[in-house]
Amino acid sequence: MAPKYKTEKVGIVGSGLIGRSWAMLFASVGYQVTIFDIIPKQVSDALTDIKEQLKTLEKDGLLRGTLNADEQFKCIKGSSDLASAVKGAVFVQECVPESLELKKKVFQDLDKVVDDITILSSSTSTTLPSLFSDGLKHKSQVIVSHPVNPPYYVPLVEVVPAPWTKPEVAKKTREIMIEIGQEPVSLSREIDGFVLNRIQYAILNEVWRLVADGVVNVEDIDKVISEGLGMRYAFLGSLETAHLNAEGMKSYIERYGETIYSVSNTMGAIPRMTQSTSADTICNQLNNMVPLDRLQERRAWRDACLTRLSLLKKEMNTKYKK
Ligand code: NAI
Repeated sequence: MAPKYKTEKVGIVGSGLIGRSWAMLFASVGYQVTIFDIIPKQVSDALTDIKEQLKTLEKDGLLRGTLNADEQFKCIKGSSDLASAVKGAVFVQECVPESLELKKKVFQDLDKVVDDITILSSSTSTTLPSLFSDGLKHKSQVIVSHPVNPPYYVPLVEVVPAPWTKPEVAKKTREIMIEIGQEPVSLSREIDGFVLNRIQYAILNEVWRLVADGVVNVEDIDKVISEGLGMRYAFLGSLETAHLNAEGMKSYIERYGETIYSVSNTMGAIPRMTQSTSADTICNQLNNMVPLDRLQERRAWRDACLTRLSLLKKEMNTKYKK
């Protein structure tokens, strides 16, 4: 049977860590992907790296999609010209560094060369889409698709519209994310931090306070997540966890609602990490746990864990869910 290539084009702008991952995800279902980067060598390095990554994934039985590694790689090419990389594309994913001025410039450049059918999506993890799309001719086609690193194994994508994003752009973006095997969540409107980082910051704030107040040390507080909450949260969200922890959510509210409220009232002010007198203590304890020259090794271990976890989740979801 002939490989199932698609005819639709996708443009990737910026070929760093995230741009490469997006290229692989789109190619996994046969989109015709073109990668553009301001530095041409980045594009050739990205293609070499992607080829190697696809081969390794195939060897390890972890390749996504139905095409083999060679077929997927054939779907990806590089370009040193922005206009030709995005011309006629159904979807463009911007992946340049996190700087508002840079995002504004890239979207202004895109605005000049794209047509009315192209969705202009940003990977930004913190910038509201209205801040870099206001004033553009194609502003109703702009949206954020915020991935989580490493996107090949962590499927969540936050889909965040600007106030002027057309509803059909948000809908189509969600559909494309599902098609490439990601798990989109759709925000009804833009909000600082989107959703994932708001939750991440709420946890970081309480973790910081507990260590700063001397209640527990860095190693133990991280254990609370990795050996406790995180075990459940890898499979269930906090609301479903609560629902299961009592006889349904109504019963949970009756049993624990007031306790949660009174404990939450003791949580204290938002720590300001840049000015906190506890910063040195926390950094030193972390550096002892994972010395800075071993970060790369520890990241590789994290990615290996996530690979195994994503396989387990797939197996459990197929067998027992929905
Ligand atoms: P990176 O620094 O690895 O790669 C950025 C690439 O953009 C580089 O290859 C650079 O040459 C290129 N570039 C710079 N200016 C450009 C321009 N004007 N036109 C085209 N290419 C240009 O960055 P990374 O980590 O891939 O991040 C990209 C975006 O994804 C950022 O907005 C970041 O916040 C977001 N993101 C990153 C995550 C991460 O863990 N790294 C997770 C989720 C989102």
